[in-house]
Amino acid sequence: SAAEKGGWSSFMAKEISEEPEAVAKTILGRVEDGLVRIPELAGLDDDTMRAIDRIIIIACGTAAYAGMVGKYAIEQWARVPVDVELAHEFRYREPVLSPNTLVVSISQSGETMDTLMAVKYAREQGARTLSICNTQGATIPRESDAIVYTHAGPEVAVASTKAFVAQITATYLFGLQLGQVRGTLTPEAARELVAELQSVPEKLTDVLANGERIRELAGWMADTRSVLFLGRHVGYPVALEGALKLKELAYIHAEGFAAGELKHGPIALIEPGQVVFVIVPSPRDENSLHAKVVSNIQEIRARGARVIAIAEAGDVAVLPHADEVIRIPLASRFFEPLLAVVPLHIFGMELAAAKGLDVDQPRNLAKSVTVE
Ligand code: G6P
Repeated sequence: SAAEKGGWSSFMAKEISEEPEAVAKTILGRVEDGLVRIPELAGLDDDTMRAIDRIIIIACGTAAYAGMVGKYAIEQWARVPVDVELAHEFRYREPVLSPNTLVVSISQSGETMDTLMAVKYAREQGARTLSICNTQGATIPRESDAIVYTHAGPEVAVASTKAFVAQITATYLFGLQLGQVRGTLTPEAARELVAELQSVPEKLTDVLANGERIRELAGWMADTRSVLFLGRHVGYPVALEGALKLKELAYIHAEGFAAGELKHGPIALIEPGQVVFVIVPSPRDENSLHAKVVSNIQEIRARGARVIAIAEAGDVAVLPHADEVIRIPLASRFFEPLLAVVPLHIFGMELAAAKGLDVDQPRNLAKSVTVE
């Protein structure tokens, strides 16, 4: 009903507006003296945390993209190898597991059958299981050894938005605590990262306040047949998420690619007028990924692509190359995806609205898929 939507035009509009809160509430109660301490992880004692020699993240859909972002961060901070696998692929290929393998499931609903079956299987094979879940008392957390809840609040729109940023946040908190326990993060480094994570909600509020331009762009694009998304490092899963939202909500053919992969195939898709979103890494990035992505933009622009860049405030180097620049606040690399994904969520929603579609209930999809 209109009252449940709290004055918003759709549940999705309401839920996107709650992205800052979803991050803030997921952090709440899990930081002590500037360091991460997740009370719910008490069941996995420090010796167990130190003995973990491999992490496999399993999930489906948007949750799997949150897992991909998490992989980059956990490996960086805790120096443990992390694989991300779609739950339904993991379950039926006899993965190699041991008691020192931690299988982390990510699920908004906690009821996705593919993910549940994979968790049960991992347990049967002797792995430890941790559930990152948004729904209190759901089946997947009940089947897991430990639970870290995301506190995004109930998500009603079928396509996931606020749960995605909450899932990344929870995965980061876990990665930070693991890094602290294993000593791969100094307390100073951990404190700096924790402080930056705590600053994300306010930055997200700024991103939402500047949503007008992306709304206008979407409004003009109702006839668009295909949209591509490019990103690199943690921007790559953001590109995948942007494409997924467009498929789910606006029924537009959309693909996300790792920007470095462009010359290995996807560039053949570029023809005059093709719209390409590019998530541009910060120009302050120490691996100069910024320059590499700007050069990708030049390559596709030369072939007629219309480039919409999502770039950090103050990145002037990207200006001459993009047709449109959507600004996000300054953040170090691991915090960029939390900010960059929001314009893409808005874009998917607004483009669907421009096509007159029901953004909360897209055709053929279900909020939680309880069959394999
Ligand atoms: C369905 C939903 C997606 C969601 C996926 C995983 O396909 O339409 O939005 O990302 O399930 O759901 P979960 O509840 O496990 O996060």
